[in-house]
Formats: sequence, structure tokens, C-alpha cells
Amino acid sequence: MDSTEHLAHIRHASDLTTLEQVRVSLLGKKGVITEALKALSALDGDVRKAQGQMLNEQKQLLIAELDARRLELEQRAEHERLGRERLDMSLDAAPWRTGRTHPISAVMQEIHDIFALMGFTVRTGPLIEDDDHNFSALNIPDHHPARQMQDTFYIDAASEDTTYVLRTHTSPVQIRTMRSEQPPIRIIAPGSTFRSDSDVTHTPMFHQVEGLVVDRDIHMGHLKGCISDFLRLFFGKDDVQIRFRPSFFPFTEPSAEIDIGCTRNKDGLIIGGNHDWLEVMGCGMVHPHVLRACGLDPQQVQGFAFGMGVERLAMLKYNIPDLRTFFDSDQHWLHHYGF
Ligand code: DAH
Repeated sequence: MDSTEHLAHIRHASDLTTLEQVRVSLLGKKGVITEALKALSALDGDVRKAQGQMLNEQKQLLIAELDARRLELEQRAEHERLGRERLDMSLDAAPWRTGRTHPISAVMQEIHDIFALMGFTVRTGPLIEDDDHNFSALNIPDHHPARQMQDTFYIDAASEDTTYVLRTHTSPVQIRTMRSEQPPIRIIAPGSTFRSDSDVTHTPMFHQVEGLVVDRDIHMGHLKGCISDFLRLFFGKDDVQIRFRPSFFPFTEPSAEIDIGCTRNKDGLIIGGNHDWLEVMGCGMVHPHVLRACGLDPQQVQGFAFGMGVERLAMLKYNIPDLRTFFDSDQHWLHHYGF
């Protein structure tokens, strides 16, 4: 085999494995060139010298050629690998979803901001309440039919004398505040509340914001002014019609339910006008029994209180048709209604 043939083998090696085989066949221990070099020892002086020189030049040429071909094949392999691993940038990236504020949280914040402007501060209370705070001190005595107004979740606590419940409203925070602070009191108490009730218009957990003002010479006019201002600011309409309808709550006397004027048309419900009325909250003057249960003298101080359902207000303001969707944790829904 002459040099040209060796070179052709090297150049035609189509991959690194084949090239290595060619290298071994030429320069390996038993390779053609290696054997030829070994055979030199059998030759005489000048012939050996000439032959040796020729073989060594040939060997250097082959090594250079092998190196060049290896580099070429390595580059090609790398190129092919990169081709296989290429990212297809033409594909749309997965949509980047940012978090949203749940409408309940957003509305609680809006309610808070408006009352903060009017000088109210926030108080909170435990979700597990005792019978006294949730009922008795609020003038709802044992076995009184008023207890049936609210379907209560009772907590198992067989060893205790006290009955514990999941608070059915935020009104117990009124009691906690009046027992620990002196008038003037001007607070709101936002939070979750619980009732054993579940259908299209009721969920077992829901949210309320309670309000309480206690001071000297507080009267119904303060209540009306405060709530009217709140509702106009909340719905962002100066001309919202507001109606105070006589009602009953054990912890207020007199008591009222507040309706706002609305119009129903083919698109649903619009706040404004007075074709229809929609109930939005309960309120009243704090009952003297309640003041006394908190160690306050009804001759000295009076108060007004109110309680509103956050889901109801959120549904009205943001046109959310179904109450239960608030608690479905549906990302599409949140993306649509969230803030
Ligand atoms: N606690 C009442 C309820 O959950 C709402 C309520 C009505 C709260 C009148 C008040 C009030 O503070 O004065 O149904």
C-alpha cells in the first residue's frame, strides 16, 4: 500500500470510529507503518537510512492528516449535535400568569379605605367564639328564638362548661372592643364568618365587615349620614338612593335594614335609579342591654352599629353573578374578576 492509498483511507473515514480504526491499522502496534519501521533493522546501512527517512516523513504526513481529519469529524459531530439540540424559538412561550387580588380581599380593602377616611380603625376577634360573645352579650339569650336566625357550627368541647362556636357574625368584636376600650369608639371589624348553610345564595364561610361607634349623644342621624356617605363612596355614585327599612336585630334598638336603589334590565342589575331595592346591610342603635353587658351606662353613652356582607357588596359592585364562584379557586375566574 502506498502513501496515496493511506491518505485516501484517512480522508474517506466518515466518522471518528472509522478514523481510529484507520489510525490503528497504520500506526498502531501492528500497524503497517510500525511494522515497516521495525523491518528497517534487517536492512543495511545506507538503504536503511534512506528507507528510514522516507518512512518517517510518511509517518509525519499521516499523523498530520489524521489530526486534520479528526478535527474535521469532531467539528461535524458537534455541528450535528447543536442542530439536534436547537431550541425552536418560533414556539410561543407559556403565558406568564401574574397573581391577582381576589375580589373579596379587594372589596374588604375598599371598605376599609373609606371608613379609614372617616376616622375608623380596625379591630379583629377570634374565629372560634364563646357563646357569650357570639350570642348572650349581644342580647341573644339561651333558647331565645333569635338564635335560630343563624345556623350555627358548634365546636365539640365535651369537658368544658363554655360552649364554643365558629362565629356566625362579626358582631362579637363589638363586645370585645367595648369591654376593653373606653368611648369614644369608632371601629370596623372585617373578617370571615360561618354558618351551616349551603345553597345558591349561601356558603358556609363568608365575610362581613362590622362597624361600631360609641360616644356621647350619638343618634340615628349619625348612623344615616355615615352609612349614606359610605355607600355613595363605595359605589362611586353621588345619587345612589338609600332606604332605611325598619327591621329587627336583638343587639340594636331601633334596627333597620338598608336598601339601595337599583334598576334591573336585560344586562342584569344596575346600581342607581329607584325602580327596585336591594338589601345591603343591617344596622341600628346599640341596644342598652348590650351596652350594659359591656359595663357601659346607656344614660351616658350611646352607639350605632352596622354589619354588611362583603360577598353581596362585591357581587353588586363588580357584576359577579354567582356567589359560589368566590370560593372555587378557579384561576380563569380570578383572572377575569381579580385586580
Ligand atoms: N350581625 C348581623 C348578621 O350577621 C348583621 C348586623 C345587623 C350587624 C345589625 C350589626 C347590626 O352590627 O347593627 O346578620
